Amino acid sequence: MGELPVSLVDGFGRAHRDLRVSLTDRCSLRCTYCMPADGLPWIPSAGMLTTAELLRVVGVAVDLGVQEVRLTGGEPLLHPDVVDVVARLHGLPRAPELSLTTNGLRLPGLAAPLADAGLERVNISLDTLRRDRFVALTRRDRLVDVLAGVAAAKAAGLHPVKVNAVLMRGVNEGEAVSMLRWALDEGLQLRFIEQMPLDPQHSWDRGRMVTAQEVLAALSQSFTLTPVPARGSSPAEEWLVDGGPATVGVVGSVTRPFCGTCDRVRLTADGQLRSCLFAPDETDLRAAMRTGASDDEVARRIRACLASKRAGHGIDDPGFLQPTRPMSAIGG
Ligand SMILES: C[S@@+](CC[C@H](N)C(=O)[O-])C[C@H]1O[C@@H](n2cnc3c(N)ncnc32)[C@H](O)[C@@H]1O
Repeated sequence: MGELPVSLVDGFGRAHRDLRVSLTDRCSLRCTYCMPADGLPWIPSAGMLTTAELLRVVGVAVDLGVQEVRLTGGEPLLHPDVVDVVARLHGLPRAPELSLTTNGLRLPGLAAPLADAGLERVNISLDTLRRDRFVALTRRDRLVDVLAGVAAAKAAGLHPVKVNAVLMRGVNEGEAVSMLRWALDEGLQLRFIEQMPLDPQHSWDRGRMVTAQEVLAALSQSFTLTPVPARGSSPAEEWLVDGGPATVGVVGSVTRPFCGTCDRVRLTADGQLRSCLFAPDETDLRAAMRTGASDDEVARRIRACLASKRAGHGIDDPGFLQPTRPMSAIGG
């Protein structure tokens, strides 16, 4: 293996190493803050990247310096070939580290085959441990399946198993401490994520958001939190819990933004490259590939997309416009 390339440096000197790949915009849950009860107008199947196209883009991105690929969605485990996709990504020359963000529902059947295929880690999204609240939040009575998914991920040796939770005012904001106690008992790395303006209803309200500071204040009532230095490009700030070694993370995307060290770029399920969740535009790699673009041309378009990346997400800017696509269609 030769020197690692560093071609994906943007205009602010940030080298991009982390590619988030959405496998589908469809999901098996209907979380109230993420999707309407009836779903969304899905990307038609002819518009989705084929597995071959997806592997091609990732192969080019890896040659440009991407070292980590996270599969997401929608719900990535709904992709019929997800195990094959993982195996083939793992088989790439300079294979990237592979991780996945999931609601966990299909992990009981898929965690072991995914681990065998080369998946290293999973993040499982879970916002509440109360069944009634889970039903209200996700519009599905599936808490028991998510918990079975957590157990399956651990049994398959996927490590670490991280749990991502979004706390919402008047909904589940009181669960920070009980969720952390559960995560500590289960050997899971819990991370609280601030809610961002990426809902399809465009009803996000900064004033109602549960902030990183509030989460930390609630946890500090019951635990001793010691900051872990060396965050690097990770979106999560980490704290040792009661002296460690267990940690808890907080992703303060809105109130404690980390855009200055961002190394992420995103590929949607329909082949559009986005330099940021909040980017105003996309680079159409699907059309390029389907009209005969060479790998060099795909690489040129990827570099051009990053060259136009903005310094920050701009949520607090007076002229901020929420992206047209919601989180589920970009890839969370
Ligand atoms: C969109 S989902 C996609 C992957 C997979 N279906 C899952 O449940 O993890 C990824 C993550 O985005 C989070 N999410 C969705 N909308 C969000 C928002 N507006 N702000 C912050 N996180 C959000 C979800 O809670 C979930 O943890």
